[in-house]
Amino acid sequence: MKALVLSGGAGTRLRPITHTSAKQLVPVANKAVLFYGLESIAAAGITDVGLVVGDTAEEIREAVGDGSKFGLDITYIPQERPLGLAHAVLIAREYLGDDDFVMYLGDNFIVGGITGLVEEFRATRPDAQILLTRVSDPRAFGVAELGPTGQVIGLEEKPERPKSDLALVGVYLFTPAVHEAVRAITPSWRGELEITHALQHLLDTGADVRCTVIKGYWKDTGNVGDMLEVNRTVLEDVERRVDGETDASEIIGRVVVEEGARVVRSRIVGPVVIGAGTVVSDSYVGPFTSIAENCRIQESELEFSIVLRDSSIDGVGRIENSLIGRHAQVTTAPSVPSAHRLVLGDHSKVQIHT
Ligand code: DAU
Repeated sequence: MKALVLSGGAGTRLRPITHTSAKQLVPVANKAVLFYGLESIAAAGITDVGLVVGDTAEEIREAVGDGSKFGLDITYIPQERPLGLAHAVLIAREYLGDDDFVMYLGDNFIVGGITGLVEEFRATRPDAQILLTRVSDPRAFGVAELGPTGQVIGLEEKPERPKSDLALVGVYLFTPAVHEAVRAITPSWRGELEITHALQHLLDTGADVRCTVIKGYWKDTGNVGDMLEVNRTVLEDVERRVDGETDASEIIGRVVVEEGARVVRSRIVGPVVIGAGTVVSDSYVGPFTSIAENCRIQESELEFSIVLRDSSIDGVGRIENSLIGRHAQVTTAPSVPSAHRLVLGDHSKVQIHT
């Protein structure tokens, strides 16, 4: 069995954190979302991975390399434009050969991995198997309609009036039967060859398409609350590891201080991760906070937040429930005039406590 991982797309979605970089590299607990996917593929016993890449190919290649650090053998499959998930299957035809495969969307995060699912598919081998999860706004997803016995009877891509709240999760298991289906469909209203349509084609031609409903799913929808929540879920499982330098600072509970990080005169209450090259001084960092690499946190308090790499927070009191992008600087303003001074990127959101 092989895996086809989709990490293409334009990388220009209007979301605060993915303006300028590949959305598959958005970090959760200081690790790219894509890496969790690759690790769960390896954990399921699959080693051959075709990685579909687009505009952000260089950034993805730099992060993933040849896959050996994940125990994977990665073949890059360039996609000229993001022409759809089914298009990715079309261009991977030669790579996939006649093997069964799991298609994994690189911006999806499945808590608990896919090992059980892959084992079930190997044992039962329907023509295709999909994952579903209940979401509050299904209009942003592919949506499944189930029959009275829970069998899939129809699928729609981003419907205006969804027939259920069961969204398609970005992990699909296929036998080679899908190749005929992706050749049979035509582009949708958004100009993409939709995998949802290929699955509908399989259903229409009498193929056996099964579904599993899962919990513990996240996708970057630009919703900061969701991102903080998935970060929290992952941090729940970190184990204490202090490889960096610390003085007499109080480091309480499950805290990771990466090698090359420094904690000085501070109090850190886990679960927290502090990335390499980051210096935390005269500060408090509270539960469910991820601070990425090369940040400076000085004379500040931070809790339930994500700080991406190369940012600095200096002398600003307490920050909670926040997502701070790369190379951001948060500092105190001069005392006169008494005013906030902001340089905010597109789609930024700021809440000022008055
Ligand atoms: O995330 C789950 C959803 O993924 C499903 O519910 C939908 O049915 C499915 O169509 C898909 O919806 P999106 O429109 O949100 O997919 P997105 O464009 O975000 O692409 C998903 C991943 O696949 C992302 O990592 C980029 C990559 N991709 C996407 C396209 C369209 C490619 O590599 N090539 C492509 O042509």
